[in-house]
Amino acid sequence: MSESEFDLEKELGLELGRPAKPELGLGEDELGRIAISSELSLSLTEAKIEMYVPESRRDRVAVGEYVVIPCDYAGGKIFARIKRLSYRKRDALDDMSEVHLLVGAERVGEEEYIELAELEPLSMIVQGKALEVRHIPKPNTLVRRVASEDEVKVGLDLPEDGLFLGYVAVNGEPIRLASGLPIPYYLRNDPERIGDPLIFTHTLIAGMSGRGKTHVAKNFLRQVVGSRYRMERRGGEEREVNLVILDPHNEYWQMMEDNPVLASLPAKELDTLRGQGVKFGGVKTVRVFVAKEEGRRYQGAPKYLEFTIPFALVRQFPYLIAGGEVNEEQFGALVLLVRDFFAAGGERYQEFKEFLEAATAEERYKAGLIHSETLKALKRRVLRPYFEKVFDQGANPLDQLYEEIFAEGAVSVFPTEHLSPEAERVVVLAIMSMVADAKTEAVESEWAKRIARFPVVLVVDEAHNYLTNAATQQDRIIVEKFVAAAKQGRKNRLGLVLITQNPQDVNEAVLSQVSTRLLLGMEAGLAERAGAPKEYQKALPYFERGRMVVHSPENSHPLELRGLDSCLVQH
Ligand SMILES: Nc1ncnc2c1ncn2[C@@H]1O[C@H](COP(=O)(O)OP(=O)(O)OP(=O)(O)O)[C@@H](O)[C@H]1O
Ligand SMILES: [Mg+2]
Repeated sequence: MSESEFDLEKELGLELGRPAKPELGLGEDELGRIAISSELSLSLTEAKIEMYVPESRRDRVAVGEYVVIPCDYAGGKIFARIKRLSYRKRDALDDMSEVHLLVGAERVGEEEYIELAELEPLSMIVQGKALEVRHIPKPNTLVRRVASEDEVKVGLDLPEDGLFLGYVAVNGEPIRLASGLPIPYYLRNDPERIGDPLIFTHTLIAGMSGRGKTHVAKNFLRQVVGSRYRMERRGGEEREVNLVILDPHNEYWQMMEDNPVLASLPAKELDTLRGQGVKFGGVKTVRVFVAKEEGRRYQGAPKYLEFTIPFALVRQFPYLIAGGEVNEEQFGALVLLVRDFFAAGGERYQEFKEFLEAATAEERYKAGLIHSETLKALKRRVLRPYFEKVFDQGANPLDQLYEEIFAEGAVSVFPTEHLSPEAERVVVLAIMSMVADAKTEAVESEWAKRIARFPVVLVVDEAHNYLTNAATQQDRIIVEKFVAAAKQGRKNRLGLVLITQNPQDVNEAVLSQVSTRLLLGMEAGLAERAGAPKEYQKALPYFERGRMVVHSPENSHPLELRGLDSCLVQH
Protein backbone atom coordinates (compact mmCIF):
# COMPACT_ATOMS: atom_id res chain seq x y z
CA MET A 1 0.00 0.00 0.00
CA SER A 2 1.20 3.49 -0.74
CA GLU A 3 1.31 6.09 1.91
CA SER A 4 -0.98 8.36 -0.04
CA GLU A 5 -3.86 5.86 0.03
CA PHE A 6 -3.49 5.76 3.72
CA ASP A 7 -3.83 9.55 3.77
CA LEU A 8 -7.02 9.35 1.83
CA GLU A 9 -8.71 6.97 4.22
CA LYS A 10 -7.67 8.93 7.21
CA GLU A 11 -8.82 12.13 5.67
CA LEU A 12 -12.21 10.68 4.91
CA GLY A 13 -12.50 9.26 8.40
CA LEU A 14 -12.69 5.67 7.22
CA GLU A 15 -11.59 2.89 9.42
CA LEU A 16 -9.54 0.19 7.82
CA GLY A 17 -11.48 -2.83 6.77
CA ARG A 18 -14.83 -1.39 7.75
CA PRO A 19 -17.59 -0.43 5.30
CA ALA A 20 -17.60 3.24 4.35
CA LYS A 21 -20.23 5.26 6.12
CA PRO A 22 -22.89 6.23 3.63
CA GLU A 23 -23.88 9.46 5.37
CA LEU A 24 -20.70 11.49 5.22
CA GLY A 25 -22.94 14.52 5.26
CA LEU A 26 -24.01 14.33 1.62
CA GLY A 27 -27.02 16.22 0.29
CA GLU A 28 -29.32 14.72 -2.32
CA ASP A 29 -27.36 16.05 -5.31
CA GLU A 30 -23.97 15.57 -3.79
CA LEU A 31 -21.88 12.73 -5.12
CA GLY A 32 -18.74 12.70 -3.07
CA ARG A 33 -15.75 14.65 -1.88
CA ILE A 34 -12.53 15.75 -3.48
CA ALA A 35 -9.93 13.24 -2.36
CA ILE A 36 -6.24 12.69 -2.76
CA SER A 37 -5.16 9.21 -3.68
CA SER A 38 -1.74 10.17 -4.95
CA GLU A 39 -1.99 13.88 -5.59
CA LEU A 40 -4.45 16.63 -6.37
CA SER A 41 -2.99 18.79 -9.09
CA LEU A 42 -3.70 21.19 -11.90
CA SER A 43 -1.37 22.52 -14.54
CA LEU A 44 -1.80 24.39 -17.79
CA THR A 45 -1.99 21.11 -19.67
CA GLU A 46 -3.17 18.48 -17.21
CA ALA A 47 -5.27 17.92 -14.16
CA LYS A 48 -5.49 15.21 -11.56
CA ILE A 49 -8.66 15.77 -9.63
CA GLU A 50 -10.33 12.86 -7.92
CA MET A 51 -13.52 12.45 -5.99
CA TYR A 52 -14.14 9.84 -3.36
CA VAL A 53 -17.47 8.16 -4.10
CA PRO A 54 -19.10 6.83 -0.92
CA GLU A 55 -21.06 3.61 -1.11
CA SER A 56 -24.41 5.33 -1.12
CA ARG A 57 -23.52 7.12 -4.36
CA ARG A 58 -21.71 4.38 -6.22
CA ASP A 59 -24.71 3.34 -8.28
CA ARG A 60 -25.41 6.91 -9.27
CA VAL A 61 -22.19 7.91 -10.98
CA ALA A 62 -21.31 7.15 -14.57
CA VAL A 63 -18.47 8.15 -16.82
CA GLY A 64 -19.37 11.17 -18.94
CA GLU A 65 -21.63 12.87 -16.41
CA TYR A 66 -21.25 16.54 -15.59
CA VAL A 67 -20.48 17.70 -12.05
CA VAL A 68 -19.76 20.94 -10.29
CA ILE A 69 -16.96 21.54 -7.78
CA PRO A 70 -17.40 24.70 -5.72
CA CYS A 71 -14.24 26.75 -5.52
CA ASP A 72 -15.38 29.48 -3.17
CA TYR A 73 -11.97 30.91 -2.51
CA ALA A 74 -11.66 31.65 -6.24
CA GLY A 75 -15.15 33.11 -6.40
CA GLY A 76 -16.59 30.45 -8.66
CA LYS A 77 -17.08 26.78 -9.39
CA ILE A 78 -15.43 24.27 -11.64
CA PHE A 79 -17.59 22.58 -14.25
CA ALA A 80 -16.22 19.09 -14.83
CA ARG A 81 -16.96 15.73 -16.35
CA ILE A 82 -16.42 12.32 -14.83
CA LYS A 83 -13.62 10.95 -16.91
CA ARG A 84 -12.74 7.72 -15.16
CA LEU A 85 -14.04 5.56 -12.35
CA SER A 86 -11.91 3.17 -10.39
CA TYR A 87 -11.89 1.00 -7.33
CA ARG A 88 -8.82 0.99 -5.16
CA LYS A 89 -7.75 -1.52 -2.63
CA ARG A 90 -7.93 -0.65 1.01
CA ASP A 91 -4.98 -1.28 3.18
CA ALA A 92 -6.20 -4.53 4.68
CA LEU A 93 -6.81 -6.10 1.29
CA ASP A 94 -3.62 -4.99 -0.23
CA ASP A 95 -2.07 -8.37 -0.29
CA MET A 96 -4.41 -10.11 -2.69
CA SER A 97 -2.79 -13.50 -2.43
CA GLU A 98 -3.53 -13.56 1.23
CA VAL A 99 -7.09 -12.38 0.72
CA HIS A 100 -7.85 -15.12 -1.75
CA LEU A 101 -6.32 -17.64 0.50
CA LEU A 102 -8.24 -16.63 3.55
CA VAL A 103 -11.48 -15.13 2.36
CA GLY A 104 -12.20 -16.32 -1.15
CA ALA A 105 -12.84 -13.68 -3.81
CA GLU A 106 -16.61 -14.12 -3.87
CA ARG A 107 -16.87 -13.08 -0.26
CA VAL A 108 -15.01 -9.80 -0.69
CA GLY A 109 -17.75 -7.17 -1.09
CA GLU A 110 -17.31 -3.83 -2.81
CA GLU A 111 -17.37 -2.12 0.54
CA GLU A 112 -13.91 -3.52 1.05
CA TYR A 113 -12.71 -1.15 -1.65
CA ILE A 114 -12.64 2.57 -2.22
CA GLU A 115 -14.27 4.06 -5.30
CA LEU A 116 -12.71 7.08 -6.90
CA ALA A 117 -13.92 9.20 -9.81
CA GLU A 118 -11.40 11.13 -11.85
CA LEU A 119 -12.81 14.49 -12.87
CA GLU A 120 -11.88 16.37 -16.01
CA PRO A 121 -12.30 20.10 -15.45
CA LEU A 122 -13.93 21.75 -18.48
CA SER A 123 -14.34 25.33 -17.37
CA MET A 124 -14.48 27.63 -14.39
CA ILE A 125 -17.80 29.38 -13.91
CA VAL A 126 -17.31 32.81 -12.36
CA GLN A 127 -20.26 35.17 -12.12
CA GLY A 128 -22.11 33.48 -14.92
CA LYS A 129 -19.14 33.44 -17.26
CA ALA A 130 -16.94 30.56 -18.36
CA LEU A 131 -13.21 30.96 -17.89
CA GLU A 132 -10.34 28.53 -18.19
CA VAL A 133 -9.70 26.49 -15.06
CA ARG A 134 -6.86 28.08 -13.14
CA HIS A 135 -7.75 27.22 -9.59
CA ILE A 136 -7.57 23.88 -7.91
CA PRO A 137 -10.42 22.58 -5.76
CA LYS A 138 -9.60 22.13 -2.10
CA PRO A 139 -9.38 18.65 -0.66
CA ASN A 140 -12.65 17.44 0.88
CA THR A 141 -14.84 19.82 -1.16
CA LEU A 142 -18.27 18.34 -1.75
CA VAL A 143 -18.86 17.62 -5.43
CA ARG A 144 -22.38 17.74 -6.79
CA ARG A 145 -24.32 17.10 -9.93
CA VAL A 146 -25.05 20.03 -12.24
CA ALA A 147 -28.12 21.72 -10.86
CA SER A 148 -29.27 24.30 -13.35
CA GLU A 149 -29.56 24.89 -17.04
CA ASP A 150 -27.32 27.91 -16.64
CA GLU A 151 -24.53 25.80 -15.23
CA VAL A 152 -24.67 23.50 -18.24
CA LYS A 153 -24.93 26.37 -20.69
CA VAL A 154 -22.11 28.38 -19.19
CA GLY A 155 -19.98 25.36 -18.32
CA LEU A 156 -20.13 23.95 -21.83
CA ASP A 157 -20.08 27.37 -23.44
CA LEU A 158 -23.36 26.84 -25.32
CA PRO A 159 -24.79 29.54 -27.58
CA GLU A 160 -28.08 31.08 -26.39
CA ASP A 161 -29.80 30.57 -29.72
CA GLY A 162 -29.19 29.64 -33.33
CA LEU A 163 -29.95 26.57 -35.41
CA PHE A 164 -31.43 23.86 -33.20
CA LEU A 165 -29.58 20.55 -33.37
CA GLY A 166 -30.91 18.50 -30.46
CA TYR A 167 -30.73 18.26 -26.68
CA VAL A 168 -27.63 18.14 -24.52
CA ALA A 169 -27.33 14.52 -23.41
CA VAL A 170 -25.16 12.21 -21.37
CA ASN A 171 -24.96 8.51 -22.06
CA GLY A 172 -27.95 8.59 -24.38
CA GLU A 173 -30.33 10.57 -22.19
CA PRO A 174 -31.01 14.29 -22.38
CA ILE A 175 -29.95 16.07 -19.22
CA ARG A 176 -33.05 17.15 -17.31
CA LEU A 177 -32.70 19.59 -14.50
CA ALA A 178 -35.07 21.14 -12.01
CA SER A 179 -37.39 22.52 -14.72
CA GLY A 180 -37.75 19.02 -16.17
CA LEU A 181 -37.06 20.38 -19.65
CA PRO A 182 -34.14 19.18 -21.74
CA ILE A 183 -31.49 21.72 -22.71
CA PRO A 184 -31.55 22.70 -26.38
CA TYR A 185 -28.31 22.92 -28.29
CA TYR A 186 -27.93 25.53 -31.02
CA LEU A 187 -25.38 26.22 -33.69
CA ARG A 188 -24.47 29.91 -33.72
CA ASN A 189 -26.34 31.61 -36.51
CA ASP A 190 -26.61 35.26 -35.65
CA PRO A 191 -24.68 37.52 -38.01
CA GLU A 192 -24.88 40.40 -35.52
CA ARG A 193 -22.91 38.59 -32.85
CA ILE A 194 -19.18 38.10 -32.73
CA GLY A 195 -17.94 35.64 -35.29
CA ASP A 196 -19.63 34.37 -38.41
CA PRO A 197 -22.64 32.11 -38.58
CA LEU A 198 -21.09 28.66 -38.41
CA ILE A 199 -22.97 27.30 -41.39
CA PHE A 200 -20.36 28.97 -43.61
CA THR A 201 -17.54 27.02 -42.06
CA HIS A 202 -19.21 23.81 -43.19
CA THR A 203 -20.85 20.83 -41.61
CA LEU A 204 -20.23 17.10 -41.75
CA ILE A 205 -22.96 14.62 -40.86
CA ALA A 206 -21.46 11.15 -40.62
CA GLY A 207 -22.61 7.81 -39.29
CA MET A 208 -23.17 4.22 -40.28
CA SER A 209 -25.95 3.35 -42.63
CA GLY A 210 -29.36 3.64 -41.01
CA ARG A 211 -28.23 5.55 -37.91
CA GLY A 212 -30.26 8.58 -38.90
CA LYS A 213 -28.05 10.83 -41.04
CA THR A 214 -30.82 11.88 -43.38
CA HIS A 215 -33.23 12.35 -40.46
CA VAL A 216 -30.71 14.62 -38.75
CA ALA A 217 -29.90 16.40 -42.01
CA LYS A 218 -33.54 17.18 -42.72
CA ASN A 219 -34.10 18.45 -39.19
CA PHE A 220 -31.01 20.62 -39.46
CA LEU A 221 -31.85 21.96 -42.93
CA ARG A 222 -35.37 22.73 -41.78
CA GLN A 223 -33.79 25.11 -39.27
CA VAL A 224 -31.58 26.71 -41.91
CA VAL A 225 -34.53 27.50 -44.22
CA GLY A 226 -35.39 31.17 -44.04
CA SER A 227 -32.12 32.30 -42.41
CA ARG A 228 -30.89 35.66 -43.54
CA TYR A 229 -27.24 36.55 -43.63
CA ARG A 230 -25.17 39.57 -44.39
CA MET A 231 -23.25 39.39 -47.63
CA GLU A 232 -19.77 40.38 -46.59
CA ARG A 233 -18.67 41.51 -49.98
CA ARG A 234 -21.74 43.30 -51.19
CA GLY A 235 -21.91 46.26 -48.94
CA GLY A 236 -23.21 44.11 -46.11
CA GLU A 237 -26.73 43.72 -47.49
CA GLU A 238 -28.85 40.99 -45.94
CA ARG A 239 -30.02 38.10 -48.11
CA GLU A 240 -32.05 34.96 -47.50
CA VAL A 241 -30.22 31.68 -47.92
CA ASN A 242 -30.67 29.45 -50.97
CA LEU A 243 -30.49 25.72 -50.23
CA VAL A 244 -29.30 23.43 -53.00
CA ILE A 245 -29.69 19.77 -52.11
CA LEU A 246 -28.19 16.86 -54.03
CA ASP A 247 -30.40 13.94 -53.20
CA PRO A 248 -29.21 10.47 -54.25
CA HIS A 249 -32.11 8.59 -52.63
CA ASN A 250 -35.07 10.72 -53.54
CA GLU A 251 -35.78 11.67 -49.93
CA TYR A 252 -35.43 15.43 -49.65
CA TRP A 253 -38.40 16.53 -51.74
CA GLN A 254 -40.41 15.40 -48.71
CA MET A 255 -39.21 18.53 -46.98
CA MET A 256 -42.16 20.20 -48.67
CA GLU A 257 -44.55 18.09 -46.57
CA ASP A 258 -45.49 18.05 -42.91
CA ASN A 259 -44.65 15.01 -40.86
CA PRO A 260 -48.07 13.67 -39.75
CA VAL A 261 -46.48 12.28 -36.57
CA LEU A 262 -45.90 15.83 -35.37
CA ALA A 263 -49.56 16.68 -35.80
CA SER A 264 -50.44 13.89 -33.37
CA LEU A 265 -48.09 15.14 -30.65
CA PRO A 266 -49.70 16.84 -27.64
CA ALA A 267 -50.03 20.59 -28.18
CA LYS A 268 -47.83 21.13 -25.14
CA GLU A 269 -44.90 19.40 -26.78
CA LEU A 270 -45.26 21.45 -29.92
CA ASP A 271 -45.40 24.59 -27.83
CA THR A 272 -42.20 23.54 -26.11
CA LEU A 273 -40.54 23.09 -29.49
CA ARG A 274 -41.76 26.50 -30.63
CA GLY A 275 -40.60 28.02 -27.37
CA GLN A 276 -37.15 26.62 -28.01
CA GLY A 277 -37.09 28.21 -31.45
CA VAL A 278 -37.39 24.88 -33.30
CA LYS A 279 -38.89 25.29 -36.76
CA PHE A 280 -40.98 22.49 -38.20
CA GLY A 281 -43.49 21.71 -40.91
CA GLY A 282 -43.39 21.43 -44.69
CA VAL A 283 -41.46 24.11 -46.56
CA LYS A 284 -43.41 25.88 -49.28
CA THR A 285 -40.35 27.03 -51.17
CA VAL A 286 -39.08 23.50 -51.92
CA ARG A 287 -38.77 22.90 -55.64
CA VAL A 288 -37.73 19.66 -57.23
CA PHE A 289 -35.52 19.64 -60.33
CA VAL A 290 -35.34 16.34 -62.15
CA ALA A 291 -32.53 15.69 -64.62
CA LYS A 292 -33.62 13.99 -67.77
CA GLU A 293 -31.91 10.88 -69.07
CA GLU A 294 -33.20 9.08 -72.11
CA GLY A 295 -34.91 5.84 -71.12
CA ARG A 296 -35.23 6.73 -67.43
CA ARG A 297 -38.28 7.90 -65.56
CA TYR A 298 -38.51 9.81 -62.36
CA GLN A 299 -41.08 8.93 -59.73
CA GLY A 300 -41.37 10.63 -56.41
CA ALA A 301 -42.29 14.23 -55.86
CA PRO A 302 -45.83 15.01 -56.98
CA LYS A 303 -44.58 18.17 -58.64
CA TYR A 304 -41.24 18.73 -60.31
CA LEU A 305 -39.50 20.44 -63.17
CA GLU A 306 -37.43 18.53 -65.70
CA PHE A 307 -34.15 19.87 -66.92
CA THR A 308 -31.21 18.81 -69.01
CA ILE A 309 -27.47 19.33 -68.84
CA PRO A 310 -26.47 21.37 -71.88
CA PHE A 311 -23.26 20.17 -73.48
CA ALA A 312 -22.26 23.83 -73.52
CA LEU A 313 -21.35 23.46 -69.82
CA VAL A 314 -18.48 21.19 -70.86
CA ARG A 315 -16.72 24.28 -72.17
CA GLN A 316 -16.39 25.42 -68.55
CA PHE A 317 -16.13 21.92 -67.06
CA PRO A 318 -14.36 19.56 -69.53
CA TYR A 319 -13.97 16.92 -66.81
CA LEU A 320 -17.71 16.25 -66.96
CA ILE A 321 -16.99 13.94 -69.89
CA ALA A 322 -13.85 12.46 -68.37
CA GLY A 323 -14.96 9.51 -66.30
CA GLY A 324 -12.65 7.76 -63.88
CA GLU A 325 -10.70 5.98 -66.59
CA VAL A 326 -9.33 9.07 -68.34
CA ASN A 327 -5.66 9.46 -67.43
CA GLU A 328 -3.69 12.66 -67.19
CA GLU A 329 -2.37 12.62 -70.73
CA GLN A 330 -5.77 11.86 -72.18
CA PHE A 331 -7.27 14.58 -70.07
CA GLY A 332 -4.80 17.10 -71.45
CA ALA A 333 -5.85 16.09 -74.94
CA LEU A 334 -9.51 16.33 -74.02
CA VAL A 335 -9.14 19.88 -72.74
CA LEU A 336 -7.49 20.84 -76.01
CA LEU A 337 -10.19 19.20 -78.10
CA VAL A 338 -13.00 20.76 -76.08
CA ARG A 339 -11.45 24.18 -76.45
CA ASP A 340 -11.08 23.80 -80.22
CA PHE A 341 -14.60 22.47 -80.53
CA PHE A 342 -16.23 25.42 -78.80
CA ALA A 343 -13.89 27.90 -80.48
CA ALA A 344 -15.10 26.59 -83.83
CA GLY A 345 -18.67 27.35 -82.82
CA GLY A 346 -19.64 23.86 -81.66
CA GLU A 347 -22.42 23.51 -79.13
CA ARG A 348 -24.04 20.12 -78.78
CA TYR A 349 -22.78 16.69 -77.80
CA GLN A 350 -23.82 15.27 -81.20
CA GLU A 351 -21.59 17.78 -82.94
CA PHE A 352 -18.78 17.07 -80.53
CA LYS A 353 -18.97 13.39 -81.40
CA GLU A 354 -18.59 14.19 -85.07
CA PHE A 355 -15.80 16.60 -84.28
CA LEU A 356 -13.99 13.95 -82.30
CA GLU A 357 -14.43 11.29 -84.93
CA ALA A 358 -13.01 13.63 -87.51
CA ALA A 359 -10.15 14.61 -85.26
CA THR A 360 -7.67 12.07 -86.67
CA ALA A 361 -7.65 13.83 -89.99
CA GLU A 362 -6.79 17.15 -88.46
CA GLU A 363 -3.24 18.38 -88.99
CA ARG A 364 -2.60 19.79 -85.52
CA TYR A 365 -3.43 16.54 -83.78
CA LYS A 366 -1.20 14.68 -86.18
CA ALA A 367 1.51 17.22 -85.59
CA GLY A 368 2.13 15.67 -82.21
CA LEU A 369 0.10 17.83 -79.85
CA ILE A 370 -1.98 14.79 -79.21
CA HIS A 371 -0.50 11.36 -79.66
CA SER A 372 -2.60 9.22 -82.00
CA GLU A 373 -2.83 6.42 -79.43
CA THR A 374 -3.98 8.91 -76.80
CA LEU A 375 -6.62 10.18 -79.17
CA LYS A 376 -7.83 6.69 -79.90
CA ALA A 377 -8.10 5.81 -76.23
CA LEU A 378 -9.78 9.10 -75.46
CA LYS A 379 -12.35 8.58 -78.17
CA ARG A 380 -13.30 5.22 -76.74
CA ARG A 381 -13.93 6.90 -73.41
CA VAL A 382 -15.69 10.03 -74.48
CA LEU A 383 -17.92 8.48 -77.10
CA ARG A 384 -19.82 6.41 -74.56
CA PRO A 385 -23.51 5.97 -75.30
CA TYR A 386 -24.59 7.31 -71.90
CA PHE A 387 -23.33 10.79 -72.62
CA GLU A 388 -25.73 10.92 -75.52
CA LYS A 389 -28.56 10.13 -73.16
CA VAL A 390 -27.83 12.81 -70.63
CA PHE A 391 -26.65 15.89 -72.55
CA ASP A 392 -29.05 18.11 -74.49
CA GLN A 393 -32.26 16.24 -73.74
CA GLY A 394 -34.61 19.00 -74.83
CA ALA A 395 -36.44 21.43 -72.59
CA ASN A 396 -34.95 23.52 -69.77
CA PRO A 397 -31.19 23.45 -70.12
CA LEU A 398 -29.54 24.02 -66.73
CA ASP A 399 -27.80 27.18 -67.88
CA GLN A 400 -31.15 28.77 -68.71
CA LEU A 401 -33.12 27.42 -65.78
CA TYR A 402 -30.60 28.74 -63.29
CA GLU A 403 -32.72 31.67 -62.16
CA GLU A 404 -35.28 29.29 -60.71
CA ILE A 405 -32.75 27.01 -59.06
CA PHE A 406 -30.53 29.67 -57.66
CA ALA A 407 -32.79 32.18 -56.02
CA GLU A 408 -33.02 33.90 -52.67
CA GLY A 409 -35.02 31.78 -50.26
CA ALA A 410 -35.37 28.87 -52.68
CA VAL A 411 -34.90 25.27 -51.55
CA SER A 412 -33.85 23.42 -54.69
CA VAL A 413 -33.75 19.64 -54.54
CA PHE A 414 -32.06 17.45 -57.15
CA PRO A 415 -33.11 13.82 -56.87
CA THR A 416 -30.72 11.58 -58.84
CA GLU A 417 -31.74 8.04 -57.93
CA HIS A 418 -33.60 7.55 -61.21
CA LEU A 419 -30.43 8.14 -63.23
CA SER A 420 -27.78 5.68 -64.38
CA PRO A 421 -24.61 5.98 -62.27
CA GLU A 422 -22.79 7.69 -65.16
CA ALA A 423 -25.54 10.22 -65.77
CA GLU A 424 -25.88 10.83 -62.04
CA ARG A 425 -22.21 11.74 -61.92
CA VAL A 426 -22.53 14.21 -64.77
CA VAL A 427 -25.56 15.87 -63.17
CA VAL A 428 -24.16 16.08 -59.64
CA LEU A 429 -20.74 17.29 -60.77
CA ALA A 430 -22.31 19.91 -63.05
CA ILE A 431 -24.31 21.44 -60.20
CA MET A 432 -21.46 21.19 -57.71
CA SER A 433 -19.11 22.80 -60.21
CA MET A 434 -21.47 25.66 -60.96
CA VAL A 435 -21.81 26.51 -57.29
CA ALA A 436 -18.11 26.17 -56.50
CA ASP A 437 -16.94 28.19 -59.49
CA ALA A 438 -19.52 30.90 -58.96
CA LYS A 439 -18.59 31.21 -55.29
CA THR A 440 -14.87 31.45 -56.05
CA GLU A 441 -15.49 33.81 -58.95
CA ALA A 442 -13.62 31.43 -61.18
CA VAL A 443 -15.97 32.00 -64.08
CA GLU A 444 -17.57 34.91 -65.92
CA SER A 445 -21.16 34.14 -66.75
CA GLU A 446 -24.65 35.27 -65.92
CA TRP A 447 -25.36 32.23 -63.77
CA ALA A 448 -22.16 32.70 -61.83
CA LYS A 449 -22.95 36.34 -61.13
CA ARG A 450 -26.37 35.35 -59.87
CA ILE A 451 -25.13 32.57 -57.57
CA ALA A 452 -22.59 34.97 -56.09
CA ARG A 453 -25.34 37.36 -55.01
CA PHE A 454 -26.88 35.47 -52.10
CA PRO A 455 -25.86 32.92 -49.50
CA VAL A 456 -25.91 29.33 -50.72
CA VAL A 457 -25.94 26.17 -48.63
CA LEU A 458 -24.98 23.22 -50.79
CA VAL A 459 -25.95 19.83 -49.39
CA VAL A 460 -24.18 16.76 -50.74
CA ASP A 461 -25.59 13.45 -49.48
CA GLU A 462 -23.28 10.46 -50.10
CA ALA A 463 -20.47 13.01 -50.33
CA HIS A 464 -17.80 10.28 -50.41
CA ASN A 465 -18.79 9.60 -54.02
CA TYR A 466 -17.91 13.07 -55.20
CA LEU A 467 -15.23 14.49 -52.94
CA THR A 468 -13.06 11.42 -52.83
CA ASN A 469 -9.52 10.42 -52.07
CA ALA A 470 -9.24 8.79 -55.49
CA ALA A 471 -6.79 10.45 -57.77
CA THR A 472 -8.40 10.54 -61.20
CA GLN A 473 -8.20 13.86 -63.03
CA GLN A 474 -11.90 14.40 -62.49
CA ASP A 475 -11.70 13.78 -58.74
CA ARG A 476 -8.63 15.91 -58.40
CA ILE A 477 -10.22 18.90 -60.09
CA ILE A 478 -13.47 18.67 -58.15
CA VAL A 479 -11.61 18.38 -54.84
CA GLU A 480 -9.43 21.35 -55.72
CA LYS A 481 -12.45 23.44 -56.58
CA PHE A 482 -14.17 22.53 -53.33
CA VAL A 483 -11.18 23.13 -51.14
CA ALA A 484 -10.90 26.59 -52.69
CA ALA A 485 -14.63 27.25 -52.40
CA ALA A 486 -14.75 25.96 -48.83
CA LYS A 487 -11.86 28.18 -47.78
CA GLN A 488 -13.73 31.22 -49.02
CA GLY A 489 -17.03 30.08 -47.60
CA ARG A 490 -17.20 32.72 -44.90
CA LYS A 491 -16.32 35.53 -47.22
CA ASN A 492 -18.47 34.47 -50.16
CA ARG A 493 -21.31 32.95 -48.14
CA LEU A 494 -21.11 29.34 -49.23
CA GLY A 495 -21.90 26.66 -46.66
CA LEU A 496 -21.29 22.99 -47.41
CA VAL A 497 -23.22 20.25 -45.68
CA LEU A 498 -21.57 16.93 -46.40
CA ILE A 499 -23.35 13.73 -45.46
CA THR A 500 -21.66 10.34 -45.57
CA GLN A 501 -21.45 6.86 -44.11
CA ASN A 502 -17.86 6.59 -45.35
CA PRO A 503 -15.97 9.51 -43.88
CA GLN A 504 -12.75 7.61 -44.58
CA ASP A 505 -13.45 8.02 -48.30
CA VAL A 506 -14.04 11.75 -48.19
CA ASN A 507 -10.99 13.70 -49.27
CA GLU A 508 -8.93 14.86 -46.30
CA ALA A 509 -8.27 18.30 -47.70
CA VAL A 510 -12.03 18.83 -47.93
CA LEU A 511 -12.69 17.37 -44.47
CA SER A 512 -10.11 19.65 -42.95
CA GLN A 513 -12.22 22.62 -44.03
CA VAL A 514 -15.20 21.42 -41.99
CA SER A 515 -15.65 23.04 -38.59
CA THR A 516 -18.86 21.40 -37.37
CA ARG A 517 -19.17 17.66 -37.11
CA LEU A 518 -22.33 15.78 -36.24
CA LEU A 519 -21.33 12.21 -35.62
CA LEU A 520 -23.84 9.41 -35.31
CA GLY A 521 -23.16 5.80 -34.42
CA MET A 522 -20.06 4.52 -36.16
CA GLU A 523 -17.08 2.22 -35.71
CA ALA A 524 -14.20 3.54 -33.61
CA GLY A 525 -11.80 3.66 -36.58
CA LEU A 526 -14.27 5.67 -38.63
CA ALA A 527 -14.95 7.94 -35.69
CA GLU A 528 -11.29 8.83 -35.53
CA ARG A 529 -11.17 9.46 -39.24
CA ALA A 530 -14.30 11.60 -39.05
CA GLY A 531 -12.63 13.80 -36.46
CA ALA A 532 -14.53 12.61 -33.38
CA PRO A 533 -13.14 13.91 -30.10
CA LYS A 534 -10.98 11.25 -28.47
CA GLU A 535 -13.22 10.83 -25.44
CA TYR A 536 -16.12 9.76 -27.68
CA GLN A 537 -14.34 7.51 -30.15
CA LYS A 538 -14.82 4.38 -28.09
CA ALA A 539 -18.45 5.13 -27.31
CA LEU A 540 -19.63 6.00 -30.81
CA PRO A 541 -19.99 2.38 -31.98
CA TYR A 542 -22.70 1.97 -29.33
CA PHE A 543 -24.67 5.06 -30.28
CA GLU A 544 -28.16 4.03 -31.28
CA ARG A 545 -30.36 6.07 -33.59
CA GLY A 546 -30.82 9.64 -32.52
CA ARG A 547 -27.63 9.81 -30.45
CA MET A 548 -24.81 11.93 -31.74
CA VAL A 549 -21.71 13.82 -30.80
CA VAL A 550 -21.37 17.41 -31.87
CA HIS A 551 -17.85 18.67 -32.35
CA SER A 552 -17.73 22.32 -33.30
CA PRO A 553 -14.87 24.09 -31.56
CA GLU A 554 -16.10 27.58 -32.38
CA ASN A 555 -19.54 26.76 -31.02
CA SER A 556 -19.07 24.86 -27.74
CA HIS A 557 -17.17 22.12 -25.97
CA PRO A 558 -17.64 18.77 -27.77
CA LEU A 559 -20.62 17.01 -26.28
CA GLU A 560 -23.30 14.43 -26.78
CA LEU A 561 -26.70 15.31 -28.18
CA ARG A 562 -29.99 13.53 -28.41
CA GLY A 563 -31.72 14.41 -31.67
CA LEU A 564 -35.47 14.67 -31.94
CA ASP A 565 -37.30 11.37 -32.33
CA SER A 566 -39.59 12.89 -34.89
CA CYS A 567 -38.51 14.33 -38.15
CA LEU A 568 -39.60 17.97 -38.38
CA VAL A 569 -40.70 17.42 -41.97
CA GLN A 570 -41.76 14.29 -43.79
CA HIS A 571 -39.12 11.51 -43.74
N1 LIG B 1 -33.70 10.06 -34.01
C1 LIG B 1 -34.50 9.15 -34.57
N2 LIG B 1 -35.56 8.68 -33.91
C2 LIG B 1 -36.36 7.79 -34.47
N3 LIG B 1 -36.22 7.27 -35.69
C3 LIG B 1 -35.20 7.68 -36.41
C4 LIG B 1 -34.27 8.64 -35.88
N4 LIG B 1 -33.36 8.85 -36.81
C5 LIG B 1 -33.69 8.07 -37.85
N5 LIG B 1 -34.79 7.37 -37.62
C6 LIG B 1 -35.42 6.42 -38.54
O1 LIG B 1 -34.46 5.44 -38.90
C7 LIG B 1 -34.49 5.17 -40.28
C8 LIG B 1 -33.14 5.44 -40.91
O2 LIG B 1 -32.83 6.80 -40.76
P1 LIG B 1 -32.13 7.63 -41.91
O3 LIG B 1 -32.79 7.41 -43.22
O4 LIG B 1 -32.03 9.02 -41.45
O5 LIG B 1 -30.70 6.92 -41.89
P2 LIG B 1 -29.40 7.17 -42.74
O6 LIG B 1 -28.27 7.17 -41.79
O7 LIG B 1 -29.57 8.37 -43.60
O8 LIG B 1 -29.33 5.87 -43.61
P3 LIG B 1 -28.60 5.61 -45.02
O9 LIG B 1 -27.19 5.32 -44.70
O10 LIG B 1 -29.34 4.43 -45.51
O11 LIG B 1 -28.77 6.84 -45.85
C9 LIG B 1 -35.61 6.03 -40.86
O12 LIG B 1 -36.76 5.25 -40.96
C10 LIG B 1 -35.79 7.13 -39.83
O13 LIG B 1 -37.11 7.60 -39.80
MG1 LIG C 1 -29.63 8.62 -45.70
